[in-house]
Amino acid sequence: LIEQKVENLLKQMTLEEKIGQLNQYTGDGGATGPVTINPNKQAEIKQGLIGSMLNVMGVQHTRQYQELAMQSRLKIPLLFGLDVVHGYKTTFPLPLAEAASWDLEAIEKSARIAAIEASANGIHWTFAPMVDIGRDPRWGRVMEGAGEDTYLGSKIAFARVKGFQGKKLGDLDAVMACSKHFAAYGAAVGGRDYNSVDMSERMLWETYLPPFKATVDAGVATFMNSFNDLNGIPATGNAYLQRDILKGKWNFKGFVVSDWGSIGEMIAHGYAKNGKEAAFSAITAGSDMDMESNAYRYNLAALVNEGKVDIALVDDAVRRILYKKFELGLFDDPYCFSNAERQKKALNNPEHTKFAREIAAKSIVLLKNENNLLPLSKQIKTIAFIGPAVKPARGNHGFWSIDVKEVDSTYIISQWKGLENKVGKNTKLLYARGCGFEDNSKAGFDEAIAIAKQADVVILTIGERWDMSGEAKSRSNIQLPGVQEDLVKAIHTTGKPMVVLINAGRPLVFDWTADNVPTILYTWWLGSEAGNAIADVLFGDYNPSAKLPMTFPRSEGQIPIYYNYFNTGRPSKEENHTNYVSAYIDLKNSPKFPFGYGLSYTTFEYSNLQLSSSKIKESEKITLSFQLKNSGKVAGEEVVQLYIQDKFASVVRPVKELKDFQKIKLQPNETKTITFIIDKEKLSFYNQKLDWITEPGEFEVMIGTSSADIRLNQLFELIN
Ligand code: IFM
Repeated sequence: LIEQKVENLLKQMTLEEKIGQLNQYTGDGGATGPVTINPNKQAEIKQGLIGSMLNVMGVQHTRQYQELAMQSRLKIPLLFGLDVVHGYKTTFPLPLAEAASWDLEAIEKSARIAAIEASANGIHWTFAPMVDIGRDPRWGRVMEGAGEDTYLGSKIAFARVKGFQGKKLGDLDAVMACSKHFAAYGAAVGGRDYNSVDMSERMLWETYLPPFKATVDAGVATFMNSFNDLNGIPATGNAYLQRDILKGKWNFKGFVVSDWGSIGEMIAHGYAKNGKEAAFSAITAGSDMDMESNAYRYNLAALVNEGKVDIALVDDAVRRILYKKFELGLFDDPYCFSNAERQKKALNNPEHTKFAREIAAKSIVLLKNENNLLPLSKQIKTIAFIGPAVKPARGNHGFWSIDVKEVDSTYIISQWKGLENKVGKNTKLLYARGCGFEDNSKAGFDEAIAIAKQADVVILTIGERWDMSGEAKSRSNIQLPGVQEDLVKAIHTTGKPMVVLINAGRPLVFDWTADNVPTILYTWWLGSEAGNAIADVLFGDYNPSAKLPMTFPRSEGQIPIYYNYFNTGRPSKEENHTNYVSAYIDLKNSPKFPFGYGLSYTTFEYSNLQLSSSKIKESEKITLSFQLKNSGKVAGEEVVQLYIQDKFASVVRPVKELKDFQKIKLQPNETKTITFIIDKEKLSFYNQKLDWITEPGEFEVMIGTSSADIRLNQLFELIN
């Protein structure tokens, strides 16, 4: 039925109107109240020359724009797109932090709530999830993805699309998701944003494409291509990626939007001489909508009229976009997402805040708790809360957060406020900033040391300022910025029990702190409820259960570093030796903190691994089981991780690959039998011809509490 409607409309459209549907402009970002719309844009919308706006939000504001579209000849509604990345008004932890929860249900729910709030504010479409694999913490956008692992990343990608799109598009609380950035953007050379990507087909198919495929399987409505070139062809003009793989092999029926200006940027790439060549490449390669390049707007008609671009290509792109507008119900009611009552309700829902606190606590990683200082007692008399992250509120929202004011106490709980909320009247709280995030002044150290001396416990909260990880935030040095590590050393000299909280959007290098401070929590940036969630974990009202979704290097020199590397012909058996093996002469090979690592206030024992069979055929399955016991004193959750290694194959296989995981909650002394199924899919890989196959031979199955701490393992054989 929708197909028919699309065809009827397409027949009535002039070439200019068709191209208009492929054209997306930015608004002015203002969220509330009426705005003055740029007169040129007003005129173009009324002429049907714009199909979509980004950065226009709020019921009133989107309505103003839509009213202009309703004055156009064919009254084709505008689509409103926005980067709703980790929440709208209620913000959730950075996507990388959420990934640390390994809690797919919670991750889906976070996207669901973001969609409920965004759709109630006139938004039809979010430019999320970012599903780029991130193996290089110098790249500032690792904060926006799910980390380094393809399996975990694919599961999370699927969950996020389901969350954003809800039960079905067309429901008023569903927004279109956008799988981005297609493809391989995360592998920018040197971790420098927008840089080139040079990658083998094996790496592309094995590591970088599966999360995108997972989003197609989840029914994602749109894709965004990417700023980078891939092996010499800009992703935006890359027909192999967009036509052969995405719209061909994967049969993707939605539409592809360019990244901001990326069609025009093919000129700077040296791939197109001018806007006309850029438009030609992009439309030919399958980029349907032009975000902010103006390349289609000013060149496509001439290309069609000169016979260089087949009108069928334009029609295909227009059809894909119109289909989504029909599916969203915008032709029935172009204002259906602009309901002031609904907006008010969605933005003031205490359930959203409650959930923000839960998922924030689930995202905090306990890196060290050597002396069991945590959880803190609520009876402590004096706590000194020190550091640049104590008082600022806004920072806790993190990069890619929308519609927040600098300090908005209704929507954000600072770390200070969270602690105040938690402790009783009998606990005295002292505060000193100590230093800024980035400045080099130690002028505040004395005051910080003085209050530390008065305290029973010191909490020191440091890290990256919130805007140091994100788009265009690559860093060559990922150590604690400024003099913060000196502040840690200074407070450490007081001998006071101390907890260090590290706030960041990526793995940082903090060697001295990691080696000398016994108690460390990695708190990322956690969103609206950051302060309460941190206090919940500090005082044991939530027992930390998160596990790192990225490897933490010892030094930038180890980057890229990831757990599922290939063994070399000369693997380094002992760390730190230089006997003509694959090692550094000045640094260990192992990371500081491995992928999948994270502690709890309780302990878990793994035992009794059983495999239903030690030999299977391809058509058969193995049931694996083992026992997990909470051997500590408090209830807790453990993420049990299943890794597999194909011992010998016709192509080299990684030392281990995550193939499954479960998050298990256990009461003290409780034991559960955990089962996993090992099937053909878990044993398959791309052979030399890049066919997805299995090969008979030996496999090792490993059950770990992290990628580096394997508790149980066994061999089995795949036979013909
Ligand atoms: O969605 C983003 C993209 O990820 C990076 N460039 C800008 C786009 C729109 O804001």
